[in-house]
This record gives sequence, structure tokens and C-alpha cells, in this order.
Amino acid sequence: MEPIIAPSILAADFSRLGEEVSNVLHAGADMIHFDVMDNHYVPNLSVGPLVLQSLRKAGINDPVDVHLMVKPVDRLVEEFLDSQPAYISVHPESTEHLHRTLAMIRAGKAKAGLVLNPATPLEVLDEVLDCIDLVLIMSVNPGFGGQSFIPSSLTKLARVKSIIDKADHEIRLQIDGGIKPSNIGAAAAAGADTFVAGYEGYLFDLDGTLVDTAPDINAALNV
Ligand code: DX5
Ligand code: ZN
Repeated sequence: MEPIIAPSILAADFSRLGEEVSNVLHAGADMIHFDVMDNHYVPNLSVGPLVLQSLRKAGINDPVDVHLMVKPVDRLVEEFLDSQPAYISVHPESTEHLHRTLAMIRAGKAKAGLVLNPATPLEVLDEVLDCIDLVLIMSVNPGFGGQSFIPSSLTKLARVKSIIDKADHEIRLQIDGGIKPSNIGAAAAAGADTFVAGYEGYLFDLDGTLVDTAPDINAALNV
């Protein structure tokens, strides 16, 4: 599967979000990773549906991958569907009825993603493999950008890859958290095909200095 690079808006300068998103898309990003945090499911607060609506109104119609770190989740699924994201990914711990939430995403014409936190066991995949189009492996604990990559994520990637390869439809494998030019190659070798690049990933400013790792990330993935 062709690799997809999805920079996270969490690392962006929000006073210039439209410009930042355009810059990473021009640098070669394939999709924008939209980290939504509610200060309830995770101990941080980020953006809501209005911000994606604004980007769409500004003519940014590129693929967006909405990562919902919120609880309860269903109402926000509905609101984000209005902005036609490519994917909406949810944490199984954030809904009482995961099968229904995943069906709601697909009914809204987005692809459904299931997010596995570092401590979430792979068994959550067992009953919903035919309801998902992407598995997101969290290689940090959700809630913040700029954290360090959890090395055991590599074996988790390989284990999930062997499960999703048995499905009768395409399921992408995304890695999210602490991805840098120095470890993205190992993540790809372990089976990831979709990469969230946050801090130090893809031009987003870090402490006000422009960090341009796009060429290194592209090179690491031979794209
Ligand atoms: C963390 C988010 C990640 C994070 C990635 O909860 O889901 O997408 O923003 O940022 P880095 O790549 O800096 O870890
Ligand atoms: Zn994320």
C-alpha cells in the first residue's frame, strides 16, 4: 500500500493554521491529522468541528483524518461528518457501543478507524474487523504532541498487521506519536503504512523555529 503521511495540526501555529496546513500539503503531506481533545477522555483540550469547517470554507479540501480523543464520542462523529473527512478514528474506550459508532462513521461516508492506546489489547479488533478501514496504533499515551515514541509499539504494529492482513478488505495501519525521521523507517518495516508526523515532523513550527523534516521523512519512506 502507498504510504500516507499525515501531519498533526496539534504541532501547528494556530494563529496561522490555514497557512500551516497549506505548507505541509505543498511539502508532500497526503492527509491532515486532526487531533480532537476534550479535556475529559484525555487531559488536554484542542479543537472542535468549527475549525475543520473553517479550513473547508477556506478551500482546504484535502483528505483529513479526524482522531477523536473525546468521550462521549457519537455526537462529535456526527458533527465532523459534515466536513467530509476521509477518516474518523475513535477509541473503543470512548463509546458504550463501538459497533454502532463505527457504523455511524461509515454511514456518514467516511472511513472508520479504531485507535489502540499503548495498553489497549488487540482483542478489541476481534468483533469489528469487518467494520473498520484503519487501525491507529498510539505510540504515545494520547493527549499531547512532542512525546517520546514507545518502542514496544513496533511489535504491536507487526501483531496488528498480521491480523488485518487476514481481512477481506483493505485496512490501513497508522502509527501516531513520536514519529520522526529517525524511527519512521522502523515503523514502516513493522507494517505501518500511514504515519502521523507531529512535532519535528513536516514543517510545523517548534518553539517558533521552523522545523523542516519533510525531506527526511519523504526520503525515509522513499516517497
Ligand atoms: C497525541 C496525538 C498525536 C500527536 C502527534 O494524543 O494523537 O497525533 O499530536 O504528535 P507527535 O508526533 O509530536 O507525537
Ligand atoms: Zn492523533
